[in-house]
This record gives sequence, C-alpha cells and structure tokens, in this order.
Amino acid sequence: MSHAEETSGTRRDFLYYATAGAGVVATGAAVWPLVNQMNPSADVRALASIDVDISGVAEGTQLTVLWRGKPVFVRHRTADEIKAGEAVKMSDLVDTNAENDNLPPGSEATDANRALDKDGKWLVMMGVCTHLGCVPLGNGAGEFGGWFCPCHGSQYDTAGRIRKGPAPRNLQVPVAAFTNDTTIKLG
Ligand code: FES
Repeated sequence: MSHAEETSGTRRDFLYYATAGAGVVATGAAVWPLVNQMNPSADVRALASIDVDISGVAEGTQLTVLWRGKPVFVRHRTADEIKAGEAVKMSDLVDTNAENDNLPPGSEATDANRALDKDGKWLVMMGVCTHLGCVPLGNGAGEFGGWFCPCHGSQYDTAGRIRKGPAPRNLQVPVAAFTNDTTIKLG
C-alpha cells in the first residue's frame, strides 16, 4: 500500500468512526429520558411488566414509554379532554368496545371505561394505530382533539377512540394499574 492510499484509508476510517460516534451520542441523548422513566429491573420479568413514574407528567401532556418493544402513551388529561370524551354518544363511535385489557371483554367504550383512574385523568394506551401499526401523533392532534395517525389519516378522540379514517378499533388499553400515587405498572 502506498503512503497516499494508507493516508486516505486512515482518513476514511477516521471519518467513519467520527460519524458513527456522533450518531451514538445523539441517539443516547434522545433515548435517555425514555429509559430513565422506565426503570427496568435487571430481572427478566422486567420485559413482562414495567413501572412508569408519572410524577413529572403535567396535566395536558403525554409521556411515551417503550414497553415490550412498543410505544405506550400515558396521557394526563385536562378537564376539557375528559368532558369532551364523556360527551360522546356510543352511536357516534366506530368501535363501541372499550378495547381495555383491564375490563371484561365486551365492555362499552365509554370514557370511564377507557381511563385508568376513577376521575378519568389518566389514559394509558398502546401508541399503535389499529390500522397498520403506525405511531399516532398526540397532544390534541386531529379533528377530535386526541391523536392523529398521519399514515392514512385515522383520527382518535380524547379517549383514544377511533372516530374517522381507516383504523377499525380504538387504541388498545393494556393491562395497567396504579401501584401508588405516582407509579403506573404496565403488564
Ligand atoms: S396506520 Fe394509522 S392510519 Fe394507517
């Protein structure tokens, strides 16, 4: 190998590693808050269930955590969002099933049957569009003030119920429960 080739090879390698290094740093910074919220134990059971610290989730905001490889939305709803969800008639819904793993099958998709707590402040749902699995946009997105899936235009309301577009079902509510005032256990 000539000196020139050696130099260019070294330089190429250097550029490659420099780029890869920058990528890793950027990813690490983006992923850290997510991992921090999950607090997974080293135990294998951590895959089946995780504790989510919701103490920092202000009203009107949403925390997204990764659970079993999928995003889960934890929304702290405002009074207006709850009111809007409660005002919807069953006859206006595409899917009248609560799609809530914490309730008996066939439970109605009332606002109360979608929320995790009796006041209706906390909504926990898989962040997976029931059409083809995209991750819907939240924070009041879409025509119904809930979530909007830009892939093919599915619109979900403030209780995560499908209202318009090709998705056939409400966003799934996974097995979840409060273990104390500021912790929700998924799974
Ligand atoms: S995947 Fe959401 S609308 Fe198609």
